[in-house]
Amino acid sequence: MSSVIKQEFPITKDVLGARNEYSQDEKEEKKKIIKKLLKERDAKIVAHYYVHEDIQEIADETGGFVADSLEMARFGMKQKESTLIVAGVRFMGETAKILNPEKKIIMPTLEAECSLDLNCKYSEFKKFCDQFPDREIVVYANTSAKVKAMADWVVTSSIAVKLIEYLKNNRKKIIWAPDKHLGNYIKNITNADMKIWKSSCIVHEEFKSNLLIDLKKEHPDAAVLVHPESDLKMINLANVVGSTTQLIKASKELPNKKFIVATDNRIFYKMKQSSPDKTFIEAPSGGAGATCKSCAHCPWMAMNDLEKLENVLMNQNNEIILDPKTIEEAAISTNKMINFAKEFLK
Ligand code: 13P
Ligand code: SF4
Repeated sequence: MSSVIKQEFPITKDVLGARNEYSQDEKEEKKKIIKKLLKERDAKIVAHYYVHEDIQEIADETGGFVADSLEMARFGMKQKESTLIVAGVRFMGETAKILNPEKKIIMPTLEAECSLDLNCKYSEFKKFCDQFPDREIVVYANTSAKVKAMADWVVTSSIAVKLIEYLKNNRKKIIWAPDKHLGNYIKNITNADMKIWKSSCIVHEEFKSNLLIDLKKEHPDAAVLVHPESDLKMINLANVVGSTTQLIKASKELPNKKFIVATDNRIFYKMKQSSPDKTFIEAPSGGAGATCKSCAHCPWMAMNDLEKLENVLMNQNNEIILDPKTIEEAAISTNKMINFAKEFLK
């Protein structure tokens, strides 16, 4: 069976429902209510770098956390609060539930999906895996709890290369899913024996390497930072390839004053915060005349706004519910990632 499947991107109208324009007074009022509710509900916010800066700001101000998908998972496990509000997309909420089954995990919206997760359905992926029973199944965190439950390992972009290297050194052959670009990038670096499922991220897929070549000519002093969910042509033009945290770190540490960044543009909030004197330019996507639902910003991440955050805290709805058997099975592969990160990400 081929792993080429028809990609589905059902973006709901809720994307358009996000509200992010507030007067300063309105914003302060909303933040005041949210802060009060966080205390009353014994809750903490865990947010991804791709959500709106208002949410990143309030997470930071209330002892919550803004991070990449691996660090979000690790942070959630260390909190004493009984409720975690995961501001990101559904797989992040599910990962939090898998690692913290005793906690209540709620999200500003349960409709925030991910194209990688949507295009790696359990039943199809199982048929794919059944063809290669001698291989270790390694899945990206951007998958459903059921897919994680089937896997031997879960990984995120910050440790994917290290884990595949480790498995290769232990003579393992690998099934990789779902991101073909990240899979091909790792395969090129490690030369591991990998069967790669062919899905992609609708945001990183939009970056255009031919336009990036032109932009680099306009800004020869800029360093190019690329997330490995982008295709190999983009990766080949990069100075640094890495997870969101690794790209932020590079923007701090490299001597360049200018950066062209190929990932979701909400990451600029943290980049500018740590390097206010530097200039950040969005890598070109879409091209002329593009309608761009996903140009440099994830439409599902964009669903998270202050209003939804307030509502979910008020109503305590939008809870992540998973069946206990799936949690138990998915916890094995997900905890292996956490333990591997402890060992190899020092
Ligand atoms: P990281 O934050 O782990 O780099 O992954 C990006 C991503 O896929 C979030 O949707
Ligand atoms: Fe998924 Fe891409 Fe959105 Fe991340 S940016 S949640 S990988 S669709």
